[in-house]
Amino acid sequence: MNIKNMIRPEISALSAYHVPDAEGFVKLDAMENPYLLPEPLQQELGEHLARVALNRYPQPSYRRLKQLIASKLGVPAGHEIVLGNGSDELIAMMSQACAKPGAKVLAPVPGFVMYAMSARFAGLEFVGVPLDADLRLNKQAMLAAITEHQPAITYLAYPNNPTGTLYEVDDMVDIIRAVGDQGVVVVDEAYQPFAGVSFMSRLDEFDNLVVMRTVSKLGLAGIRLGYMAGHNALMAEFEKVRPPYNINVLTEAAAEFVLQRIDVLDAQTAELRLQREKLRIALEQLPGVHVFPSAANFLLIRVANAEQVFAKLAQQKILVKNVGKMHNLLENCLRITVSTPEENALFLAALAASLSSP
Ligand SMILES: Cc1ncc(COP(=O)(O)O)c(C=O)c1O
Repeated sequence: MNIKNMIRPEISALSAYHVPDAEGFVKLDAMENPYLLPEPLQQELGEHLARVALNRYPQPSYRRLKQLIASKLGVPAGHEIVLGNGSDELIAMMSQACAKPGAKVLAPVPGFVMYAMSARFAGLEFVGVPLDADLRLNKQAMLAAITEHQPAITYLAYPNNPTGTLYEVDDMVDIIRAVGDQGVVVVDEAYQPFAGVSFMSRLDEFDNLVVMRTVSKLGLAGIRLGYMAGHNALMAEFEKVRPPYNINVLTEAAAEFVLQRIDVLDAQTAELRLQREKLRIALEQLPGVHVFPSAANFLLIRVANAEQVFAKLAQQKILVKNVGKMHNLLENCLRITVSTPEENALFLAALAASLSSP
């Protein structure tokens, strides 16, 4: 079979998104919330889901779910919401809708890998603008790249993955203004529950602003639900490329159920913010570990030999993310998801052992 005759060369050149097998590991690699719903709520949810009409397609307007997202997660009145099967799908939809011939996508790097991947899938060119050595936004380089490339989409993850950096608000505003009506600026607030700041309330100020979020980091990664809001005219265009039934009835019902009890997830995220600070302080006390500031539910650290430390952690059944090869600014860096006090303690002990053994 001649695959090359069938598949676009830019797809052939890519590797598939790799997810390591985490069976038996303390899983600190994917920024998941480690807490389940309390037992009685699990029971109630089970009964709720059992009543869902699995024989029917979803109602593609998802009106009730959108109303709950707006009221419980703070989308300002009057702004249309578009739903995605995770925010990954929203990124894919925006790439598809904006893929005019020759159009470009711009984002700081290192950043979330799906911006570049989705751009390539849709035939868009991706332009990465390096952060500075402290992993902060290089505003001048961003502004110069906007002038040079006139990007159709600019992504600003707020806070950024994999660095945890929270960019300066004024820098973000300057970038949104510099792009102007030439393109869309997507402020990706996947980690907003851990940052406590947001552009959502500023949607009315900027016609080209899209604020994108997910329930994944909040504690519902398994149901795959992302949402975005922006100018209604823009949302109407993105809605055209959304597969009509992309949110399945079980996701819809589970999300509605949990959103009505959002205080449970809010308490879990508050606990994780507390744990992030404790973990940061403990890591800073370990010799040879540099901890970067993080406003997300993970910490990026630099050690002397990350490859070796990663392997030793894996031997001790601790799975973190080795991001050292992602970008030269991340050399010798590991990304660790903040977890329960017990799992954080296991990680810290394993890390201390990994650092001290030859
Ligand atoms: C910055 C950022 N945006 C979006 C996503 C995707 O989230 P979802 O689970 O909603 O597809 C991630 C996942 O890690 C992320 O780090």
